[in-house]
Amino acid sequence: MTEKWTPQSWRNKPAKQLPAYPDDIALKDAENTMAVMPPLVFAGEARNLKKHLAEVAEGRAFLLQGGDCAESFAEFSANKIRDTFRVLLQMSVVMTFAGALPIIKVGRMAGQFAKPRSDDNETKNGVTLPSYRGDIINGYDFTAKDRIPDPQRMLRAYNQSAATLNLLRAFAYGGYADLHRVHKWNLDFVQDSPLTLRYEDLANRIDEALNFMAACGVTGDKVPEIVRQTEFFTSHEALLLPYEEALTRVDSLTGDWYDCSAHMVWIGARTNQTDGAQVEFVRGIKNPIGLKCPPSLDPDTLLKLIDVINPENEPGRLTLIARMGHDQVEQKLTPLVRAVKKEGRSVVWSCDPMHGNTIKSDNGYKTRKFDHVLGEVRSFFAVHKAEGTHPGGVHLELTGQNVTECTGGAEKITDAHLSDRYHTVCDPRLNANQALEMAFLLAEELRSLRGARPVFDSQIAAAE
Ligand code: PEP
Ligand code: CO
Repeated sequence: MTEKWTPQSWRNKPAKQLPAYPDDIALKDAENTMAVMPPLVFAGEARNLKKHLAEVAEGRAFLLQGGDCAESFAEFSANKIRDTFRVLLQMSVVMTFAGALPIIKVGRMAGQFAKPRSDDNETKNGVTLPSYRGDIINGYDFTAKDRIPDPQRMLRAYNQSAATLNLLRAFAYGGYADLHRVHKWNLDFVQDSPLTLRYEDLANRIDEALNFMAACGVTGDKVPEIVRQTEFFTSHEALLLPYEEALTRVDSLTGDWYDCSAHMVWIGARTNQTDGAQVEFVRGIKNPIGLKCPPSLDPDTLLKLIDVINPENEPGRLTLIARMGHDQVEQKLTPLVRAVKKEGRSVVWSCDPMHGNTIKSDNGYKTRKFDHVLGEVRSFFAVHKAEGTHPGGVHLELTGQNVTECTGGAEKITDAHLSDRYHTVCDPRLNANQALEMAFLLAEELRSLRGARPVFDSQIAAAE
């Protein structure tokens, strides 16, 4: 028989990756303070996202999930939030146009703070300290004081998430995302690149379509909402359970529990144990849930996890985020896709081409080759084409800033450039150019699923 779920029932399960807070009373204090804070998102919004994801599961929409590997207190600014939002908008417009299907936008934003680590400790010059686990837990600087887990950090993360969400809602619903502004979303530092030509061409075509609509009398209040604003959702890894529990509330409309820290939360690759604390926590909340699928995950274990997380086979409830590594996709993803299909489970299949492709450069930077990232996405589409299933989405670490963290791409970033603008506190992100390049690749893949000729042929030729 299934044991009763409560927002606290995870506390009876083995938990990985949770910090050892030195002071229980200080932890309880922070939890109690957060438990009376307003929810960051509302149950109805999470249900809305679930409905959209049900469409994705059927191949009638596509999921674009992206943002920082880890948000940080130091890197918090309105411009950075705007730029990430803007690059996601650009990507989605490119993909909508080619794929002729809705793109569901979900940020790794407004709560993506806690990080799983391979080692509990870090040693430098003979000194050993607890590993950095994200700004919501401890500090990045390598000092004993910074590395002690501090529960008050959860409150700061909550407040930063609230401010971030406030701005995101303003951008999404307050005019910034109006399709009439499609030209303005181009970021300054991509002005002269061949990518800009491709983007400008597309923006011109959208302008034409909007002008046509206007000429037909679709102006002012008659312009559909979908042109004037966009829906934008938030997500993060459900790792730091004291934080998630404190923001879990009963929805007065349905009586169901929702984790109101984000619209969607996901289970990371290191905390996917069927009987572990993180899986226990997500099984009782009604939000859409993501589950990272690393190459070590076998089909039987995946089916067990699906039984636990989505026992009623509810469409849109579960997004499987495959992160296999560019050279292992066919071998590792195919058996999972087959098993899920054979058992008739409704899932969204998404591709995280980042976390299986992390390497260390010769000069010591954690980086990713953009070619590997693109390669994993291509293979993901190929597997789904071969298996007759829907490639439902992508999950990316990206920023709208002009960073140099992943090598390759149109700007041909090399190992030697990594030190120029390497700003991430965790994993390397695609910069705005690389993200746009990715969008054009995705556009072509989505276009080919429609069985039509790639729309960008002439532009590719012109740009090369
Ligand atoms: C992440 O998404 O930042 C992450 C740590 O991924 P994974 O759990 O797949 O390793
Ligand atoms: Co990461």
